Amino acid sequence: GTPETFYDAVGGEATFTRIVARFYAEVAEDEVLRPMYPEQDLGPAEERLRLFLIQYWGGPHTYSDQRGHPRLRMRHNPFTIGPIERDAWLRCMRIAVDEQGLPEDLRKQLWAYLEMAANSMMNSWV
Ligand code: HEM
Repeated sequence: GTPETFYDAVGGEATFTRIVARFYAEVAEDEVLRPMYPEQDLGPAEERLRLFLIQYWGGPHTYSDQRGHPRLRMRHNPFTIGPIERDAWLRCMRIAVDEQGLPEDLRKQLWAYLEMAANSMMNSWV
């Protein structure tokens, strides 16, 4: 049959929904990240990140159906993302990922991507 995607291997939509919900619960309390969000309601931002990660790992392409090509570096240009912001983002994401009880090889693979992606989103070095 069709080889299982990473998306399926980690538990599909439910797992990404839990990771991103936990991540945004941390963001809501983070004094570096919370003020960066232009909208008062974090719900729409949560949904965009959730759909993006689902698509990236082999799930449905709803993100691009709704938002077009991700162009994530461009979409982050309005925000100053230096080492402090990157570290805050990774701190919140680490908590969210570590709570899922994923098999170690899958957790490592997910984390390696998130670290790489967070580094690549930087547009400031102060
Ligand atoms: C959007 C901050 C890294 C994925 C946003 C927004 C902010 C933000 C303030 C706007 C909220 C919204 O309208 O959705 C940051 C910071 C990062 C970071 C401080 C630190 C490195 C990442 C990474 C990813 C990511 C690593 C992917 C793995 C997204 C997505 C959106 C978004 C998918 C919505 C894009 C759209 O469709 O408009 N981010 N982000 N971000 N971020 Fe990040």
